[in-house]
Amino acid sequence: MKTYTLPDTNEKETVVQNMFTSAATAYDINNTVLSFGLHHLWKRLTISLLDIQEGNTVIDLCGGTADLSLLAASKSGKTGHVLTMDLNFAMLRIGLEKVKAKQSASKEKCSVAIVQANAEFLSLRDSSVDRLVVGFGLRNVSHLDAALSEIYRVLKPGGRFACLEFSTPVNSLWRQMYKFYSFALLPSIGKIVSGDQTGIYEYLPASISRFPNQETFCSMIQKAGFREVSYRNLSGGIVAIHMGVR
Ligand SMILES: C[S@@+](CC[C@H](N)C(=O)[O-])C[C@H]1O[C@@H](n2cnc3c(N)ncnc32)[C@H](O)[C@@H]1O
Repeated sequence: MKTYTLPDTNEKETVVQNMFTSAATAYDINNTVLSFGLHHLWKRLTISLLDIQEGNTVIDLCGGTADLSLLAASKSGKTGHVLTMDLNFAMLRIGLEKVKAKQSASKEKCSVAIVQANAEFLSLRDSSVDRLVVGFGLRNVSHLDAALSEIYRVLKPGGRFACLEFSTPVNSLWRQMYKFYSFALLPSIGKIVSGDQTGIYEYLPASISRFPNQETFCSMIQKAGFREVSYRNLSGGIVAIHMGVR
């Protein structure tokens, strides 16, 4: 297995953004191939646990190609608003196409707006959002604490946060099998499907193994001020959904 050196904090944003710009076109298909389609189930479950109500304002932070936004919009309904916020223009452009396709295909209003924004400095008022979801995003920000404190700041008291992210498989045999798949097989498959030259599919397993495990991430969310913090493992802990209430 090749060793990949993660970028340091100062260069992380530039490196990560270059990777997503290059991977954007093949991002959705690669997600489906590499997760054997499971990411659709993980995303649907995340949105159902977020308990979105009709009329809610929902942020899909690091929303990329807007999968979670579209699922959220079906819950917040005609009177709600969903904002897909992401730093990457290429990812958002694909998200925008999907939103437009959904809007022209459905008779129901699909209220999703797309905004280029940094998760660490949100241009949103304090206490202005009912629900906030992040899917596979917080692992990629340069300053995780800053993003968590922004999420807390913009949520209304009682507002809910859900984070879907790769985590640590709980069973040691499963952990070894997953490690083999993600370090030895996944980078080659990802590269074949996308033709990527930036190393994003080597960055992926390396960044996952650096990300805090379930319990440590719970503590970080609590430290940001959230209450009722909990998590649910999916696929044996390959991913986890962390939740908190402001
Ligand atoms: C793995 S993709 C996830 C996209 C989408 N949420 C999903 O679940 O398919 C990670 C996204 O995080 C975005 N991102 C990374 N750092 C960011 C930051 N500081 N602020 C906003 N978005 C960021 C990237 O541009 C990329 O689109």
